[in-house]
Amino acid sequence: MTEKKAVSAEVPKETPVLKAVHLGISFGGLKAVDDFNMEIGRSELVGLIGPNGAGKTTVFNLLTGVYKPTEGAFYLNGKKMNGRKTYQVVDEGIARTFQNIRLFKKMTVLENVKVAMNKDMQYSPLASIFRTNSYWREEHDTDERAMELLDIVGLSDKKDAMAMNLPYGQQRKLEIARALGTNMKLLLLDEPAAGMNPVETDELLDIINNIRKTFGISVLLIEHDMSLVMRVCERIQVIDYGVTIAKGTPEEIAHNPRVIEAYLGKQAEKEVLNMKDASGHVIGEADSAAASGSEPAKENGADTSDL
Ligand SMILES: Nc1ncnc2c1ncn2[C@@H]1O[C@H](COP(=O)(O)OP(=O)(O)OP(=O)(O)O)[C@@H](O)[C@H]1O
Ligand SMILES: [Mg+2]
Repeated sequence: MTEKKAVSAEVPKETPVLKAVHLGISFGGLKAVDDFNMEIGRSELVGLIGPNGAGKTTVFNLLTGVYKPTEGAFYLNGKKMNGRKTYQVVDEGIARTFQNIRLFKKMTVLENVKVAMNKDMQYSPLASIFRTNSYWREEHDTDERAMELLDIVGLSDKKDAMAMNLPYGQQRKLEIARALGTNMKLLLLDEPAAGMNPVETDELLDIINNIRKTFGISVLLIEHDMSLVMRVCERIQVIDYGVTIAKGTPEEIAHNPRVIEAYLGKQAEKEVLNMKDASGHVIGEADSAAASGSEPAKENGADTSDL
C-alpha cells in the first residue's frame, strides 16, 4: 500500500480561531442554515462545499455580522460574536472576499488595498490636512506594505491600473490582497476561483498556500472548483439545503456516498479520486479509512462529528 501521511481531522486543542455552535438562520419559512457547527484552529484551511443554494454564502454572512443568527452562536478567538456589527467582527480579525466581486472600480489597484489598511493609520486629521512629516512617513509605510500584499497575489506590476480594467481573475486576486490589508486571523474566501482559467486557479492555489505560510492565518474556503478544494483543504464540510451532510478529509469526502449523491455526482467523483490532496497523494489511490487512520465511514455515509 502506498505510504501516506495522514491529514489530521482532529479537533484543534488550542482556543479555536472560529467556533460555530448550532448556528442557524431562517428567512421566512426557509431554514437557510441549520445547526451549523465548525471549529477552525490557527493556520488551518477548511473547505465549505455544497450545491448551489445550499447556504454557504449565508454562513459567511452570519460569520461577518451581515445577518444575525436566529439560532446558536459563534466565537472568534474565544469571544462571542452574536449580535456584533460587521466592523466589530472585522476588528476581531475576520476578513472576506465576495462571490460577486466588490472592489472600488474607479480606484487604482494600490488604492484598493490602501483603503483596507486605512483604519490602522495613526496620523491625525490635522496631519493629513497640513501634510506633516508623520503624514508622509505613514503614507510611505502604507504604500510599502500595500505593495508587499500586491506582490503576494502577483499584482505589484499592476499597481496603477484602474481596478475595473483588470481581467476577472486578477480582480479576484486583488480582493484577496485587500482582505489581507486588514490584519486578519481568519480569511473567508467565497468562490475565489470563479471565472478563473486553470492556470489562474493553479496560481490561486499557490497564493493561498503562500498566505498561510507568510501570515499564519486560518482560511475558510467556499469553492465549486473541486480541483482547488481537494488540493488545498485539510478538512472539508459539506452542506446541502442548509444542513451539514459530511465532514472529513478530502479523501473521506471524495468517497462519501451522500456527498456524491447530493453534490459531486458519479463522473465528478471519478475526477476527484484522480486528484492529489494537500500532501501530494492521489486521493483515490489508497483505502480512505486505512490511509487516513480515521473511523470507517458511517452507514449512511455521513460523518457529522465536530470538525
Ligand atoms: N436575505 C435573504 N433573504 C431570503 N432568502 C435568502 C437570503 N439570503 C439567502 N437566502 C436563501 O438562502 C439559501 C442559501 O443561499 P446562499 O446564497 O447561502 O447559497 P450558496 O450555497 O452560497 O449558493 P451558491 O453556490 O449558488 O453561491 C437560498 O435558498 C437563498 O435564496
Ligand atoms: Mg454563494
